[in-house]
Amino acid sequence: MKRRTLLKTAAAGLIGANLPTLTLAMSSAGRGDKEQYDYILTAEHAKARIAADGDSDILGFNGQFPAPVIRAKQGRPLRVMFINKLDEATTVHWHGIRIENSMDGVPYLTQPPVAAGANFLYEFTCPDAGTFWYHPHMNSVEQLGKGLVGALIVEEDTPQDYYDVILGLKDWRLKKDGSYLPLSIPREAFRDGTLGTVATINGQQKPTIDVPAGERLRLRFLNMDSTRVFNLSMRTDAAQIIAIDGSPIATPLPLSVHPTGAGMRLDVGFISPTEIGQEIPIFDMKGRFGVEICRLRIIPPKTKTAIKTGIPALPSNPIPVPDLKSADSLSFVFEWAGAMSPSDAKGKVDHNFWLINRRAWSDHSHQNLPAPLAELTLGKSYIFELHNATPHHHPIHLHGLIFTVLESDKKDITPFHTDTILLEKNERAKIAFVADNPGSWMFHCHVIEHMKTGLMGYITIT
Ligand code: C2O
Ligand code: CU
Ligand code: CU
Repeated sequence: MKRRTLLKTAAAGLIGANLPTLTLAMSSAGRGDKEQYDYILTAEHAKARIAADGDSDILGFNGQFPAPVIRAKQGRPLRVMFINKLDEATTVHWHGIRIENSMDGVPYLTQPPVAAGANFLYEFTCPDAGTFWYHPHMNSVEQLGKGLVGALIVEEDTPQDYYDVILGLKDWRLKKDGSYLPLSIPREAFRDGTLGTVATINGQQKPTIDVPAGERLRLRFLNMDSTRVFNLSMRTDAAQIIAIDGSPIATPLPLSVHPTGAGMRLDVGFISPTEIGQEIPIFDMKGRFGVEICRLRIIPPKTKTAIKTGIPALPSNPIPVPDLKSADSLSFVFEWAGAMSPSDAKGKVDHNFWLINRRAWSDHSHQNLPAPLAELTLGKSYIFELHNATPHHHPIHLHGLIFTVLESDKKDITPFHTDTILLEKNERAKIAFVADNPGSWMFHCHVIEHMKTGLMGYITIT
């Protein structure tokens, strides 16, 4: 079968953000009546202007930053021919997708690493619509830190009347001349993680993003940073949360401030004003004060349409409902080894600062797999009792499944779906899900340095 695969860039459906989109070749060959979405994706060395005074050597998907936006459709096959043009091995992980295990992109656990110069065909169907993303799962401090992060948008089976705006957040550890600062500093890695110095949205510092007047916008925020929590706010109740980490919420809620940790996403519905030229700032709140991260600017719409009103809920995704009565409860305690010496007897830095259930993933690669943190039975419901026994926050992420957050001892929870829960310091929370996806699934903190220094494990479902 001949694969028709095109590679070109286009700005399909996106305004102002200068985001390349990979174009797809749709074909029905061998697939019955199902449209197929085909892409070619490379990882390669490139140069990009991120800092003020000079170019940076980045690692870029298709040599670009921001990376191409991959668009797929709910329930339709997506195929990505990945070509590794780096000089080291890598993989691509599809964050938030309830994917089959062999396509999850975790080296050694779900596939062999894709060696330098080698290819791997990722082929899967996304059961859920929403805002997801993709990134390597190898040498992550460097590979993600230098630019290998991109948006994966899965469109609803039934088109939604929203105008898409993608806001990809990523900070860089750069000097003004574009050269890198150390990507990880051990004393920060055992605290909240090493923060970037140059903040970008879609690859630009504090951009102004043009949006049409009187439109119903879907602002898709993606926190693709390795470390930072964004406390997103627009300081207006007109902005409403419509989905959290890719999963729609039943009733849109005013976005007052929403903490969005590394790896997390937020979809916000917002009717743009009609006054041309008006600017709407978006903030990262620090207490009562907001730091502006970007702004929207109103431009005339391309075609005259009626001014949109209302923020309708998005259709829910087919996430199985856990049976809490029959569910088994398992407890996971996240601990800090920071009280211990960060050096071993020989004075060498011991990079295991974090523990899950008293264990760290001690080999920083995946080459020597530890035993799973838990072995679950396929089809059964589970409650995970999470306890963050550290004085730092952790966005805890589970691969391959979407779970329901049931309760927390720090805040009132209306149960919601997610793939990543941001645990505050000392927080206890309960999550639940049906273990319906067989395989070995990573369970880790998405502060990349935390993951690389122990806060990582996996569960199995058989
Ligand atoms: Cu974004 Cu292991 O995940
Ligand atoms: Cu993931
Ligand atoms: Cu963490």
